[in-house]
Formats: sequence, structure tokens, C-alpha cells
Amino acid sequence: AAAVAPLGAMAWDELAATVAACRQCRLCEARKQAVLGVGDRNADWLFVGEGPGAEEDQRGEPFVGQAGKLLDGMLAAIELKRGVDVYIANVLKCRPPGNRNPEPLEVAQCSPFLARQVELIQPRLILAMGRFACQTLLDTDASIASLRGRLHRYQGVPLIVTYHPAYLLRSLPDKAKAWEDLCFARGTMAGLLAQAAAA
Ligand code: URA
Repeated sequence: AAAVAPLGAMAWDELAATVAACRQCRLCEARKQAVLGVGDRNADWLFVGEGPGAEEDQRGEPFVGQAGKLLDGMLAAIELKRGVDVYIANVLKCRPPGNRNPEPLEVAQCSPFLARQVELIQPRLILAMGRFACQTLLDTDASIASLRGRLHRYQGVPLIVTYHPAYLLRSLPDKAKAWEDLCFARGTMAGLLAQAAAA
């Protein structure tokens, strides 16, 4: 067999093949396929969710179900579009059966793939959506409410926290807060682009 590069040295093709064939945790048993991510591999924007649901598992693309429709609407609200300067990924690449919460070991085993995606994409800004993405990327137990509204960092990349679209579908009051987060993200990106242009 050909030598396999360590994860931290993998290019996209090798990373995609490794994720597709991954059998590190039990989630491989029930999945139809692993879902690596979708979009522009040189994107300025990286949106990170929790893990594939049933439709994502079927189609092999993140956020294609109900929550995905809302995410597309959120993107449109700040004049972004899936695939155009935007990459969408999840912490978990395989669907937890019955959409149960990810287990800590699953997150620990899977999150290095996302870490490598971040290294390859080198986004200017990460939007972490929902408790699992936020807590995993920021290595904290803090609530979304307490993390919102300020700039964090993941692997040196500026990161903003917001609610998960699936949660927003059930919680109308927090939609207004998510809108604030998106505006904050848009303003932050404008600042980052201006900084880069001046450098
Ligand atoms: N929820 C997520 O967190 N990710 C998806 O891809 C779909 C739903």
C-alpha cells in the first residue's frame, strides 16, 4: 500500500479519502457516507456545524435539510452564497444515529479532520454554529449566550459564535440574536479585509 501522510501533512484528496474510509469510531457502522464539507476550499468564510443529519448522510453534503435551508437564508442575509467564498463543514463527519448528541470520544477522534480543513482553507473568519461547534473549537464548557458578541480564535483564526440553525427553527426569539451575530461577522470580515488590503 502507498504510504499515508500524517493528518497534519495531508492535501485535500488524501484528507477526503481518509475521512471517507474512516473507521475510528462507531459512527462508521450506521453511516451511508462520511460528509467532509462543501464549498470553496480557498474561502474567506468557514461555517461549522455539529454533524450530518439524515439528509446530509444520504446526500454527502452538509446542511441540505431544513436547517440547511435556514443556513442558506442566513448566508443570503449577509450577501453570501453556499460555495462562493464560503466553505461549510461540521465537527463530526458521520451522522450520529437518530441525531443524538455527539459523544466526547467521537468529537475527540473526529475534530482533527476539521483542524486540518482549517489549515488547508486558511479562512479569514470562522462562524461556529451551535453548542457543539463552539465548545469544541474553543475548548470550553461555556454557553453560546456567554460566548456571543466577541471575537475568539481557533488555531489563530478569528472566530465568532452563533446559534445553530436547527435550534433557531425552534426558537424564534433567538433569531434576532443570530441576526446580530451575522451583522457582527459581516463587520468583522470587512475590517479583516481592510486590514489585509492595507498590509
Ligand atoms: N446540522 C448540522 O450541524 N450539520 C449539518 O450538516 C446538518 C444539520
